[in-house]
Amino acid sequence: MNYEQQIKKLAAEKNAVILAHNYQPPEIQDVADITGDSLELARLAKEAKESTLVLCGVYFMAETAKILSPEKTVLIPRPDAGCPLADQLTPEIVRAAKTAHPGSPFVVYVNSNAATKAECDITCTSANAAAVAASLPEKKILFGPDANLAAWVQAQLPEKEIIAVPENGGCPTHHNFSVRDVEIARREYPNATIICHPECSREVQLASDMVGSTGYMIRNCGTEKEWVIFTEEGIAHPLQKKYPDTIFHVMASAVCPNMKLIDLFDLYVTLRDGVYPVQVSDHIAAKARTAIERMIEVSK
Ligand code: 13P
Repeated sequence: MNYEQQIKKLAAEKNAVILAHNYQPPEIQDVADITGDSLELARLAKEAKESTLVLCGVYFMAETAKILSPEKTVLIPRPDAGCPLADQLTPEIVRAAKTAHPGSPFVVYVNSNAATKAECDITCTSANAAAVAASLPEKKILFGPDANLAAWVQAQLPEKEIIAVPENGGCPTHHNFSVRDVEIARREYPNATIICHPECSREVQLASDMVGSTGYMIRNCGTEKEWVIFTEEGIAHPLQKKYPDTIFHVMASAVCPNMKLIDLFDLYVTLRDGVYPVQVSDHIAAKARTAIERMIEVSK
């Protein structure tokens, strides 16, 4: 039996469901039961009937699954798969921002650590960030850690005042794209529609034709024949699978090293040995759960 077959067999024996993010290596996405963007994975992790969830993604995604399903075993094949964006917003920074802006709610991107979520009012993903901010009655809203996503939300909601905390937080993979990259892509692929993830800089968002989360891209990139995609290159796999006759150009250099850590052997070992279980302290999980469930309620 090859690794794919052994993984499937072990998952069935252990009543486990495998969830993989859209940026995971193709062979991991193909062996997974469920693939999706951060919002879809959070929702499906909550709804899953299996007693074990194996999260193939970065650590905050596995933590979110555990927070939503404390009674389940949540495993991550590579617990060292961190997120440099998440680490840019600490609980102390959230508390300081709330003290500086009393009465303003804090919307925290799911790309954050559990202890940070626990200090915030509501979470959001790139798929629902504007809807989450719009659901709050307050005009002034604290938003972090991604300042580019904050700028995208501000552009959708001119009636609000979105304050990015920290001021310059960002994902290194997405922030690396420049307007020049977009201009070059336009010259090279004049018939292509250009779409970028809202974690790209505001300038790149404005230079692109469309902006959307990975789930948005997968749902909507069937409308044109050729696309240039500014996000992590792993997105090419689910797009090409769903739209085999469409041409997708991704930037081969746009690789999130953390998203690429898990391989089939890691996943096999995870299912064989039950490693690595994700734990979140009850106190932090209870507070973070309130923030995540509020988001899920808004996105229904
Ligand atoms: P999505 O919510 O679009 O899946 O994005 C997740 C992410 O981590 C982007 O860097």
